[in-house]
Amino acid sequence: MQNPPQTPITEPAKQLPELFQLLQPHLKALDAFLMEQISQFEPEIREHAAYSIDTGGKRIRPSLIFFSGWQNDGQVDEKLVRLAAVVETVHLATLVHDDIMDEADIRRNRATVAKKYNNATAVLLGDALFSHAVYLATQFPTNEVCRDIAVSMRQVCTGEILQTMQRGDPDLDMATYFRVIDLKTAELFRVSCHLGARLAGFEDSYVQAAGAFGRHLGIAYQIYDDMTDLFGSQEKIGKTLGTDIATGKPTMPLILMRDRLPDDQAQLLRDSLSGKIEADVPHWLEKLREMGIFEEVRQAIFDEITKGRDAIAPFQNNSSAPYLRTISDLLWNQVAAL
Ligand code: IPE
Ligand code: IPE
Ligand code: MG
Ligand code: MG
Ligand code: MG
Repeated sequence: MQNPPQTPITEPAKQLPELFQLLQPHLKALDAFLMEQISQFEPEIREHAAYSIDTGGKRIRPSLIFFSGWQNDGQVDEKLVRLAAVVETVHLATLVHDDIMDEADIRRNRATVAKKYNNATAVLLGDALFSHAVYLATQFPTNEVCRDIAVSMRQVCTGEILQTMQRGDPDLDMATYFRVIDLKTAELFRVSCHLGARLAGFEDSYVQAAGAFGRHLGIAYQIYDDMTDLFGSQEKIGKTLGTDIATGKPTMPLILMRDRLPDDQAQLLRDSLSGKIEADVPHWLEKLREMGIFEEVRQAIFDEITKGRDAIAPFQNNSSAPYLRTISDLLWNQVAAL
């Protein structure tokens, strides 16, 4: 018999401002580590590497790493800083490539690498960043990090390839949507938590649980991001939005709406997604609201966060678990406030 699901806890285990205060020395060490990397690139591409590396970003994956490996003393752990640099560099590479495919102009409040230089340079700079991440991953005593990161990188690429192949397919189903976001986003969240807990020396069962938590949080985060792509403000988010509908990507809200609209209207949406006609975005946003789809998507995000919390719920005595739990509150609160 399966264990009964854990009741979702709605009260945060730790207050968020306190939590991010605690993280500051870790993030500072990561920033310093990343900046040191720039000088390792060949002089001819140093400017390009710096343009990509020397940017803000929410540092979600590094935060997951630091919290997955969190010990009671809260000390900065050099292994976790290196791991965070590996994962953040992989993430940067995926963003550089993603912005080419999504034809986005703005990333982290400035021109994308492709826009600033050109597509060809961005393709190869992304490859150089991937390569540098692997190089950093080889500098652990065993090859476990390198092996896991290499597999995750391949999965992220697979997710992005699948999404590119499905572009303009107006009949994409929900299972395929989940498969893609699992690969392109959740895998990097999963490996961050898995390896963070592993490098901290936690027991195997917790390492697996932390990985499962990361995976569900990653799925939730991508659904949230896809909702933001439709409803968000470009100024606040700091990246080009509206690219999903414009490039024919049926995300969760659009899939739900398509399957519920009367035939003639569903066909109109299909034709917009496949590019036969230009998408009347304000019209579809209005429909999404009218049909209550927004609420449903929000619930899907909460469900994923709850699954993640359930995975770590049996480990309340582990020094890391309450911190992971609190990071999930951040997304929960953000979605609740939408
Ligand atoms: C953007 O990731 C790509 C997605 C998975 C949605 P982030 O939202 O973590 O981007 P940064 O690092 O903060 O710029
Ligand atoms: C995230 O998907 C893709 C990656 C895994 C890089 P999106 O294409 O939605 O990400 P944003 O919205 O451009 O950040
Ligand atoms: Mg994309
Ligand atoms: Mg994109
Ligand atoms: Mg997006």
